[in-house]
Formats: sequence, structure tokens, C-alpha cells
Amino acid sequence: MTDPLLSSYTGWPVIIGSGLAGLSVALHLKQPCVLLSPHPNGEGSSTQLAQGGMAAAIGPDDTPEDHARDTLRAGAGLCDEAVVRAITQAGPSAVETLLRWGVPLARDESGSLALHLEGAHSRPRVVYAGGDQSGAYIASSLREKVRATSRIHVLTGQSLEGLHHEDGLLRGVWVSGGFIPTQCCILATGSCGGLYRHTTIPLSNKGMGIAHAALAGARLGDMEFTQFHPTSLAAGPTQTRRPLISEAVRGAGGPLVLENGERFTEELAPRDVVSRAIAAQLKDGHQVYLDGRHFKDRPFSARFPAITKACHAAGLDPDTQRLPVKPAMHYHMGGIAVDHHGRSSLPGLWANGEVACTGLHGANRLASNSLLEALVCGKWIAEDIDAHSTPFIPLRAPTPRVPFLSPTWTLNDLMEEQAGILRHEDGLRALLEKALPLARHYGPALTASFIAWAALHRKESRGSHWREDAPTSRSPQRQSWTLVDLPSA
Ligand code: SIN
Repeated sequence: MTDPLLSSYTGWPVIIGSGLAGLSVALHLKQPCVLLSPHPNGEGSSTQLAQGGMAAAIGPDDTPEDHARDTLRAGAGLCDEAVVRAITQAGPSAVETLLRWGVPLARDESGSLALHLEGAHSRPRVVYAGGDQSGAYIASSLREKVRATSRIHVLTGQSLEGLHHEDGLLRGVWVSGGFIPTQCCILATGSCGGLYRHTTIPLSNKGMGIAHAALAGARLGDMEFTQFHPTSLAAGPTQTRRPLISEAVRGAGGPLVLENGERFTEELAPRDVVSRAIAAQLKDGHQVYLDGRHFKDRPFSARFPAITKACHAAGLDPDTQRLPVKPAMHYHMGGIAVDHHGRSSLPGLWANGEVACTGLHGANRLASNSLLEALVCGKWIAEDIDAHSTPFIPLRAPTPRVPFLSPTWTLNDLMEEQAGILRHEDGLRALLEKALPLARHYGPALTASFIAWAALHRKESRGSHWREDAPTSRSPQRQSWTLVDLPSA
């Protein structure tokens, strides 16, 4: 039984997800739309947890070309260069948009916007808010703006349960409350970090958006590239979601050290490089620490209040103690393959944010480029939808949905061990053997199968994909797949 309220949205653009990717599309659209979210205040979104901020070339000596160059270098030969140039070019106006929408970005003593330095950026380039609470500040300002915009209808307690298509077109969306007939759906469902044993993102994000899009026939791209953030806090209660210690801490001068205080890596190298360096030390039995005790001007706790709170909860004082750290799954560069308008290969289905794969990130995302991508591409998607709206064609009859099951069995340990920082053909095959039999009935297993399948086929090491059995870089070609490419279980 469909809730009559859902039926009243027949033919409207339906946005699924309430992080920056969904909010940006909603706010940029000119027509009425409905935004659906499982949680009332975007709690389940990665935006809410983002610490670093948004990268944009607004510094006095910076240019979008420099930002593009850093993005391409971090992406290790697999970025879509046209997308990189277009998004980095749009960075400065994206910052103006955030200011216009009321986001209280931090300023320095002279009143200019303050900029953090993060890994693999050639200069300070990241605007931020609340010290280390950029995502939470951005999300709350945008949610307030959404509340004040009457053409945006927000429904909470609703998650995606399926995409209905007829004759190769998206024709409706199954959500918890029933069915919405529409030929315009924007997936902004976020990450798949919850597939791993340790992640910095909300655990409920297990790649369901990718799984539903794949089942509906959409093409997926760059699925093998999963980014591990080098510094999650390795202390406190054993838990799957690990508190992040922002790259801005290393950007402010905090070194990574071993037990004896010795440095062992270039702290601001691209993330994949730093994560592998830490993983190698941990494998050798060392403990790795981030030392934030010696900042000039202001102590750690004044610069990074949210991280300080997380450290206190784990019984650590970052002003006086070194912080034990460990890499944790943080961001998926792959996802639903989209073009420069955010369109997937299934007409009527757009994707934005981490669930999408635009080609901006290549094999390794440059820090703080994801909020920029979500904001800028959200605008492009809205413009595309407003420019091409067509009257709703009545449905033949929505086929009954075949829901994914929710088994209690979990893949997290296998994903961590076989599709983590270091990979090997044998382990990837073992993962695929376990995941594939469940893939048609269990969304996380379908997404995991695509990650394993893509990683198996990339017989080289590049960016965040490191094969112990193929340690050199060989083929700078992007891979993409649809459901029919997966072997049947
Ligand atoms: C961080 O603050 O280190 C995370 C920023 C990002 O993932 O882009």
C-alpha cells in the first residue's frame, strides 16, 4: 500500500539523500521537488561528519589551473580531465554560493576567508567552518535554507527500496512508504564505507544506491578505487565507525611518528601513499601516532574542537598526548557512472555526490574535493532537469518490487582483508566467491561483488588500488561495468 502523500508527488523530481549532494540539487532546481531521507536531520550522511572543508582556488596566489593540476596528480592518470577542469574552475563561485546560503566560513585576522592546507595540495586551499566541523555547519545552513523554500518538500523516514524502469527509462521509485511514479530521480545516497570493518563514515552507508542503480541496468565506473584515510583514531571502544583526525592536523604541522618519535613518511603526500606507509609500519608491529602537541599560536583543542571531543571520549588529551592512528575506509571514488550533466546510463536517473562517479577523482581523490563536486554537480544536474522537463507519461503498471533481503551475515571482515589497502588476486577471488551468491538478493553483496570484480580486473597498482601481485602501474584506462558483466553465482 502506497502512502497517498507519496502518490501526490507523481511526476516530480525525487531526490534521495539529505547530504550536500541532495541538498545542492534541491536548492538549485527551479521546479518543485521532493527530497527523501531516512533520517530527520541528515544524521546518516557523510556531509555531516566532514571535517576538512571544501577545496577551491580562492587564495591570492592560487588558480583553478593549479587546483586542476593537483587533482590530476593525485588521481594517478585516471581522472577525466575535462571534468577536473570544469569543477575546479567552478570552485570560486561555489564558495560564493556557500556564503550566499549563509554558511559561516572561517576568516583570518584580516577578514579574508581562512584556508587550510591538506595533503597533495600545493598550497592552502580548503575553506572550512567551526575549526573542524565544516560538514556539520554546511549541512545545517543548507537545511535551514531548504526549510525556508516552499517548493522543496522533505520527507524523512524514507529510504530507497528499488528503481522501476520500463522500456529502458526510469519510471518510478520504491521507497519505504510505497511507490512514487516519476521519470526523474536523483540518487544522492552516499558512500559504501559501511561494507568495511573500519570506516570513518556512517555505518548504514553500505552501497545500496549503487546496488539499486546496477539492478536497474545503470553502468558503474571506477569501482575498484576505495580511499583509506590515513588517520582515523585508533583508540577508545572497539567500534566500526572510527573518529577521523582531519588531514588539516597534518597540514597545520602535526607529524606522523613511531613509538620512538621517528618520522617515517611525507605527511602531506597523496592519501594512498600515506595510508600505505602507515599500513607497512603497523604490519611490522609498530604503533603510529599523530603528534599535535606543538602547534604554534593555538593549541590543538582550540583549532580542532570536534576532534578534541572525540579524543576525550577515547580517554586522550591531544594537547598533551600523541594520538594513535590507523587508516580506515573513507571514500569511494567509484560509483554510478555519470556524464557532465550527472546523467546515468539509465535515462531519468541522475546521481550526485559519493554514489556517483564523475571522473573528478580518478584513482585517488584529492582531499576536500568531494564537497566541491557535490555542490557544483548538484547545480549542473538541476539545470539539466529544469531545461529538459517533460510531461509525465502514465505507467503501464509498476511491476511488484523484489526487495533485497537483510541477512545478518556480514562481509565487513572480508572486505577489509581482501579489498582493502593491499590486494591480491587470490584474496579478491575468495571475496568474490562469498559475495556473488548473495549479490542478487542482498544490496551490499552486489556492491561488494562489483568492487572485487573491478579490482580483480585491474592487474596493476594505481592510486588507491594496490595489488601485491602486480605492484607496477600499467594501464591508465578506466573500467566500467553493468550487471550483465558480473558472472552469475
Ligand atoms: C579530512 O579532513 O581529512 C577529510 C577531508 C576529506 O576527506 O576530503
